[in-house]
Order: sequence, then structure tokens, then C-alpha cells
Amino acid sequence: MWFEVILGIIAFIPALTANSLAVISGGGTPMDFGRKLGNKRILGDGKTWRGFIGGGLFGGLIGFLIHLAMGSVLYSNYLLLPFALSFGCMFGDLLGSLVKRRMGLNRGENVPVLDQYDFVVGTFIVIILTHYSWTVETYFTDHGLLTLISLMIIVPVLHRGVNIIGYKMKMKKEPW
Ligand code: CTP
Ligand code: MG
Repeated sequence: MWFEVILGIIAFIPALTANSLAVISGGGTPMDFGRKLGNKRILGDGKTWRGFIGGGLFGGLIGFLIHLAMGSVLYSNYLLLPFALSFGCMFGDLLGSLVKRRMGLNRGENVPVLDQYDFVVGTFIVIILTHYSWTVETYFTDHGLLTLISLMIIVPVLHRGVNIIGYKMKMKKEPW
């Protein structure tokens, strides 16, 4: 039982790492090209093409390396699955910023819960659409639900920890 839970958490690593890698690769042209909706930015300057693509590719690559190390037990040989997880994370991060801008919040302003879970929602949307049976098996059936609950507990702790490190390393402007 716990073995499957641990595997399910390891499988989620591309989504857990993509965001941090986006901080490193980010910069340049914003994804909304500076456009506004009403008098507020659509996504803001914190969401760039380089961050989105860099985070997605790096996270997926990490998943691919984990796949090479662990064999088919993790992703059942779906080679695009790590990339679905990492790009899903980056997509969820965009949804979070979209909501924050509509709420009238500036780039980097802190919204508890939304900041920690937006990427999980985006990841699940993308993996359900692209790898439905694997997702249901890994996160929604008996041991899967335990995996999902464990993930939900681990995610905010990891997110906060990594962001504090990023802030101390001067990679990030805020410690959240
Ligand atoms: N980043 C990026 N492109 C992305 C996602 C992130 O360039 N698609 C980089 C940006 O430099 C961003 C940093 O990673 O500032 C941290 O990401 P995040 O905390 O998600 O962005 P915020 O700046 O806090 O902006 P927002 O308020 O929209 O979340
Ligand atoms: Mg932020």
C-alpha cells in the first residue's frame, strides 16, 4: 500500500519541480504580451514564455530521467506523461495568476491556498485529459486516494520550503 503511495508521489515530481525551474529560466516577453483586460493585466509580468517553456521542459526531463532510473513501474512507459505533468503544472500556475489579476492583485501578491494549489489543479486537468486511466489508477482508486491526500499534505510544505530557499538565493522576489 505505502509502496504505491510513494511511487505515486515520486511520479508527481515533474509537476513539483517545474515551477521552481521556471523561476530560473523565466524572463523576457510576458505570455500576455502586456495586454490588459479591463484595466488589469491578463497574467502579469511574472508569467513569461521562457518560464513556461523552460519549466515545462526541465520538469519533463527530470521525470524522463526518473523513468530511466526506475523503469516502467512509474509511468507505464507513457513517455509523454512526465511532460504532461510538468506542462500541466505551468498551465495551473497561469490559471492561478489569471484569477489573481482578476481579483486586482499585483504580481507577487500572496494568496494562501491559491498559490499553493493552483498548479496541482492545472496538473490534474492536463493528466486527466491526456492520460486518463493512469491518473485514475494512480490518484483516484483505493490506494490512489491515499496518494492524493498525501500529496495535498506534502505540496504546501514543499512549496513553502522551496520558495524560502529561492528567496534566500535571491532567485525569487518574495518568500512565497
Ligand atoms: N516565472 C516565469 N514564467 C512563468 C512562471 C514563473 O517567468 N510562466 C518566473 C517569474 O520570474 C516569476 C517567478 O518565476 O516572478 C515566480 O513565479 P510565481 O510566484 O508563480 O510568480 P509571481 O511573480 O509571484 O506572479 P503571480 O502574482 O502572477 O503569481
Ligand atoms: Mg508568487
